[in-house]
Parts: sequence; C-alpha cells; structure tokens
Amino acid sequence: SNMEPQLLSLPPPPRVLIFPFPCQGHVNSMLNLAQLLCLSGLHVTFLNSDHNHDRLVLHTDIQARFACYPGFQFNTITDGLPVEHPREGESIMELCFSLNSITRPLFREMLVSGQFGLVNCIIADGIMGYTIDIANELGIPIFHFRTISACSFWAFFSIPQLIESGEIPIKGNEDMDALVKSVPGMETFLRSRDLPSFCRCSDVSNPVLQLMKNETQQSPRARALILNTFEDLEGPILSQIRTRCPTTYTIGPLHAHRKTRLAKHATNTLQSSSNSSSLWEVDRSCMTWLDQQPLQSVVYISFGSLAVLTRDQLIEFWFGVVNSKKNFLWVRRLDSTPGNKEGESEDIPVELVEGTKERGYMVGWAPQEEVLAHKAVGGFFTHSGWNSTLESIVAGVPMVCWPYFADQQVNSRFVSEVWKLGVDMNDLCDRTIVEQMLNDLMVERREDFVKSTAEMVGLSRRSVSEGGSSYCNFDRLIEDIKLMSM
Ligand code: UDX
Repeated sequence: SNMEPQLLSLPPPPRVLIFPFPCQGHVNSMLNLAQLLCLSGLHVTFLNSDHNHDRLVLHTDIQARFACYPGFQFNTITDGLPVEHPREGESIMELCFSLNSITRPLFREMLVSGQFGLVNCIIADGIMGYTIDIANELGIPIFHFRTISACSFWAFFSIPQLIESGEIPIKGNEDMDALVKSVPGMETFLRSRDLPSFCRCSDVSNPVLQLMKNETQQSPRARALILNTFEDLEGPILSQIRTRCPTTYTIGPLHAHRKTRLAKHATNTLQSSSNSSSLWEVDRSCMTWLDQQPLQSVVYISFGSLAVLTRDQLIEFWFGVVNSKKNFLWVRRLDSTPGNKEGESEDIPVELVEGTKERGYMVGWAPQEEVLAHKAVGGFFTHSGWNSTLESIVAGVPMVCWPYFADQQVNSRFVSEVWKLGVDMNDLCDRTIVEQMLNDLMVERREDFVKSTAEMVGLSRRSVSEGGSSYCNFDRLIEDIKLMSM
C-alpha cells in the first residue's frame, strides 16, 4: 500500500545512554529504568563498569533479560580501581574519586570517538554531577537520575545552607539531638544525627562533604531530574526540590513500576526471564526455609551491599536478635565483617550459631524482593538504603532502621517520624536496644505499623498503575526524550 514507503522512512527511536554509579543499589534501579525505556520502544545503551559487568554476567541472566529488546546494548568502562579493591564500606568513597579522575575523561573520549554510536540523550547518575559538563560541551541533552530518596537528595542539596548557618560541621555529641534549621521542610523533626553521615566531619573542607555538595549542586543544570520515589510518599519535599529543579519526574518505586509495565506488554519470553541484577550469587535455599515458617513470624535482616560491620556490632546485633526470640533470616555477605588483626575469628562463634538453628537461617545473598513479599516475613531489620526501603514499602513490611552511612540517616528518620513505617535505632547499637526494637516492631506496636504500612502499600501500587502519578510522569518523560531527539 502507499503507507509503506512512509513507514520505512520513519527515523529510528531515540537512543538513550544510561550511566549509573557502579554499585549495587544504583545499578539495580537504573537497570529497571533501562527496562522501562526499552518497553516504551526507546533504544538504550547501558554503561557498566567492567568490574560490575563481569559480576552481573556471572551471577544473573542479565543478557537474556535484555536480549528481547531491539536496540539495547551494554558497554563497559573502567571504574579506575584495581581489581582487588573492596568497593564497600567507607572505601566506596575512593570509587567516587577514581570515577572523577580516571573514568570521567575516558567517558568523554568514548562519546567523542562515537563508541556508543549516535546518542540522543544521556541519563547519568546525578552523584556524578560532572557528566553535565561533558554533555554540554558535546551538545547532548542530559538528565540527572538520583537513586536516593527525595528527602535525602534535598538534605544533600541543602549542604551550602547548612555550612552557611554553621550547623555543619556538627559540633560534638551534645549537638546531635538539636533540630536542624537549614533544610527547608524538615525543621520540626530532622536532628543533626539524621543528617547524611558525611556531615559528621570536623572541617567543611572534608573532601567527601565537598564532593557530595558539589555534585548535587549540578542537578538544576540538567534538563530534568528523575527520582525513584512517588508523590504520595514525598510530596512536600518534592515541592521544595521543584523550587530549584523545576522539572523533577518522580517515576518510582521503579521495581514495582517495571512489573506493571511488563505485565501490560508481556509476551511469554518477557515474563519468564529473570529480573535479578545481583552482583552476588543469590542463595535461593532461604525461600524453602521461609515456606516452613509461620505467617509473618520472620525478621528479615540485611544491611545492603556496602555496609561493613565491626565484630562488636555484629555480636551485639546477634544477641539482640537471639534474645528477642524472633525467627530470623539474616543476609551476611562474605565480606561484610573485616578481617581482624589479632587473628581472632571475625565471625559469630559457632556455639552461638548452633543454639539458634531452629529459629534462624543465614545466607550470603538473598533474592530480597521475593523475600520481602513472602508471607512468612513480618519485619525488616535494615540499613535504610533507598532500594531496600522502597522494596519494604511496596511489600508492606515494617522496619527497624539501623542507618549505616550517606543518605541512610535521612531515610531512617523519615521512616520512623514522618511515615511511621517503623522504628529507628540510629546511632545505638547494643543488644538491649535491638531486642527492644524488634519487640516493638513485631509485638508491642505491631498494630500501628500494620495499619500505616498497609496504607502505603496501596499508595505505592497506585502510583505505578495506569493513571497513577509515577505512571503518568514516566509517559511525560518519554515524550520529553522524544521531543528533544527530533
Ligand atoms: C546504598 C544506599 O543507601 C542507597 O540509598 C544508595 O542509593 C546506594 O548506596 P545499598 O547498600 O546497595 O545502597 O542499599 P540499597 O539501596 O538498599 O540496595 C541494595 C539492593 O540489593 C536492594 O535492591 C536489595 O533488594 C538488593 N539485595 C540486598 C539483594 O538482592 N539481596 C540481598 O541479600 C541484599
């Protein structure tokens, strides 16, 4: 028919280059974003670090997950660190610095020399704010995506005012409970101890504080800011953010959003491919163990992909959990307690573990989304990483928060004080506190938490359903990308 020549001459869909900060929580959520873009017919280039890409290929079906999308491709780039670098705990900051000094010029070079093909727009992790200079220089439109909550983004964004007012550096322990005045919208509940962990420095010239401040300040220069959150959860803080970043698309919770869109498009191949993006090998044996546990009896314990516990912390947590007499599923990454100089075993003593075989199960890495959705799970003892928090919200599981670092302090304050979805241990780390908090969560205050978590489940699911705020915002984002690629 005479339609055909016209169809043939249609330009190819825009190609989006996605560049995440190379660690688990960022790669997870940006892969979900990539999949959503693919489902909307866009072409996507996903830039992994060599290090992470090898691990993804080793531990997941990542190639199969994306094989069905025409125009999807992975590219890799060095993260600038030697292979044996731990890439966890406080040392993760070295990754920030090596990305800036080594990866950044290489990234520019790869763009200039056309190694990604024609790129119509870039969605870069906003923690690498400097990507905007490269994009501007080369005339490529750029969006910033932040994998953190709106509330922690806003706290990061307010660092200049916090310095100006003298509220950071935090003076000392006696100041930790003082309310913070310079983060607009949080004046009535945010304490010094709830500020991002890098605000706890002795000097404002601290390189980590400076880096977080400077990178976050770049985002208003991007075409738009994209956040993995939803309006009903963070509306008031989003209004604050929009005074500085007027175009802010909230499109989360992304893991749930991916599911609703996937279900609409679903062909059998799409449905059957695994969605895991784990950098560690997933131990699924815990699902069988969970099947044997009573309804909502189990506390799921995981401190994410970066936290490194001292042996003392580990032992205090252990006794707290055991003394609470709750069933537990505990994720202990192989590398999550550091070696001990005195040659003392850094692990929980065998005789202690022996006594809890009935009630407890430990794995190196769990299928977390599935674990949280399991009917036997009744609580989550978490480090308040943003992905974990969102996954818990969607699954309706209340939390005991032990924020480890960075954005997690802000998240845990919101979980306990604003959203009332759990309790916050904050800086306390001893066995009696852990025991008491688990009891509050699972018994004493359970009714309250069940009510507030159920409400938030409804709101979170509605936001990513057809007509919901995140669903509509995502459609607007796609339109925006298409418009500027013409
Ligand atoms: C940290 C942050 O706190 C986060 O907010 C920031 O954006 C990145 O750095 P991380 O420690 O990785 O992230 O925590 P989190 O954001 O919660 O991400 C961990 C991810 O790993 C979650 O998606 C979780 O489902 C997954 N996970 C964790 C597993 O799949 N299995 C496990 O056993 C543990």
